[in-house]
Amino acid sequence: MSTYQTIEDTIGGTPLVRLQRIPGQEATDRGNVILAKLEGNNPAGSVKDRAAMSMIRRAEERGDIRPGDTLIEATSGNTGIALAMVAAIRGYKMILIMPDNLSLERRASMTAYGAQLILTPAKDGGMEYARDLAMKMQAEGKGRVLDQFANEDNPQAHIESTGPELWTQTQGRITHFVSAMGTTGTIMGTGSYLRSMNPDIVVVGAQPAEGSQIPGIRKWPEEYQPRIYKPEWVNQFETIEQSEAEQMARRLAAEEGIFGGISSAGALVAALRVSARTEQATIVFIVCDRGDRYLSTGVFNQ
Ligand SMILES: Cc1ncc(COP(=O)(O)O)c(C=O)c1O
Repeated sequence: MSTYQTIEDTIGGTPLVRLQRIPGQEATDRGNVILAKLEGNNPAGSVKDRAAMSMIRRAEERGDIRPGDTLIEATSGNTGIALAMVAAIRGYKMILIMPDNLSLERRASMTAYGAQLILTPAKDGGMEYARDLAMKMQAEGKGRVLDQFANEDNPQAHIESTGPELWTQTQGRITHFVSAMGTTGTIMGTGSYLRSMNPDIVVVGAQPAEGSQIPGIRKWPEEYQPRIYKPEWVNQFETIEQSEAEQMARRLAAEEGIFGGISSAGALVAALRVSARTEQATIVFIVCDRGDRYLSTGVFNQ
């Protein structure tokens, strides 16, 4: 056992775990293996710890920001919690803007790390409204927006860590990479790294169906498409219904002992569809965060 110099050093290096029951006999007969990358094991509880650390550290290295500055971000939750953690470690003031319909656990975690929250009315436009307000506050000189949707240091985190970890953990055997899409940082960075190692790897993006609310992920309207998104890195898209993601989140916990969030379960739904149409595949999906972040929504009570 080694000692870490800072909590920052515990970000990444998350486990990759084989599913035992949910893939079923059919997947076994096809020679398919489905593996879960447990990003909820990061110190602030999600895949976003990697992006938050990367965006703040690199901005600091470029001299764009320095400790004591105020940072502003529009976030659906996990990025906010991760940024609040990194801001606490490195000595920044953090203002987080989020729609008021997001779960209570998320808000409480951000304030625990010392961030200031601004809640925007979900009925007035949700994340789009929050993103516009962040830009307006920056224009008014109230702080610096890192803008995870346009910041190349977001996917860069995954080019440098998540991608290489998966390549090593599967000993280069990964055939399919499945991720839910929010800012698209995870799928862009990890997908592009893996395809640079083996161009035959298939990158699959999970998106919510029209009218489905799955926290953290979106099918963005054209004018709000994240600037870091490059369509050429996603080979296949899977559309996920909220009800099937929620049901799968309950199964993932009860049948596999993996307590993940709803978007993670959506990625698993996509991974199972991939498994049903392929053979001899090593399919990795991202478990973005932990299920306890969603307890107050009641989704695990059914
Ligand atoms: C719960 C959850 N799932 C999925 C994602 C998508 O990750 P990315 O923004 O890297 O596409 C996020 C992003 O915030 C998230 O919070």
